[in-house]
Amino acid sequence: MEISIRNYRNEDVAAILEIINYNILNSTALYDYNIRTTDQQLAIFDDKLKKGFPVIVAESNNEVVGFGFYSEFRFREAYKFTVEHSVYAHQNHVGKGIGKLILTELVELAKAQNLHTMIGVIDSENTSSIEFHEKFGFKVVAVIKETGFKFDRWLHSVFVQKML
Ligand SMILES: CC(C)(COP(=O)(O)OP(=O)(O)OC[C@H]1O[C@@H](n2cnc3c(N)ncnc32)[C@H](O)[C@@H]1OP(=O)(O)O)[C@@H](O)C(=O)NCCC(=O)NCCS
Repeated sequence: MEISIRNYRNEDVAAILEIINYNILNSTALYDYNIRTTDQQLAIFDDKLKKGFPVIVAESNNEVVGFGFYSEFRFREAYKFTVEHSVYAHQNHVGKGIGKLILTELVELAKAQNLHTMIGVIDSENTSSIEFHEKFGFKVVAVIKETGFKFDRWLHSVFVQKML
């Protein structure tokens, strides 16, 4: 499977929403309850891009098969060298190297932006994402218990961190 990485464009939003909304409905990867609309998602990415943060997609055979981005971890000024990232592969294409390409690119972009550290917040049930991140040098630094409630159960947030 040949995969390339490029910057996000507005016309990618439908393919990205397919991935996001699948995960909202079927997993604890996202803590939303309700699927997102196109306008909501366009606004989310627009805000990140206006602040100078990257949104990237993975493409294969002219189809978007994954995406990733980072943006501020928290909003106070002293957090400005810290970002929180997300990475997603399409549900039909996990384990094919898409996440690897996206995360590698995000780390390179963060270094180029002179950032100091990257944080991922992963649901504790999402062991595949935790293990995936550990392969890239992220370390589990905290588990914040019962921070989410979805599918009638409490969810725990695992914070993974990589120093750049
Ligand atoms: C987590 C996710 C981004 C990983 O992307 P992916 O494209 O499936 O992973 P890759 O094929 O690029 O794998 C990269 C490396 O991680 C490892 N890895 C991937 N999934 C793994 C798993 N379930 N368990 C252990 N290792 C795993 C691979 O073995 C691979 O290592 P290698 O390079 O030594 O072979 C993807 O599975 C996904 O989008 N899952 C659903 C949404 C999600 O949970 N996103 C993250 C939210 S925090």
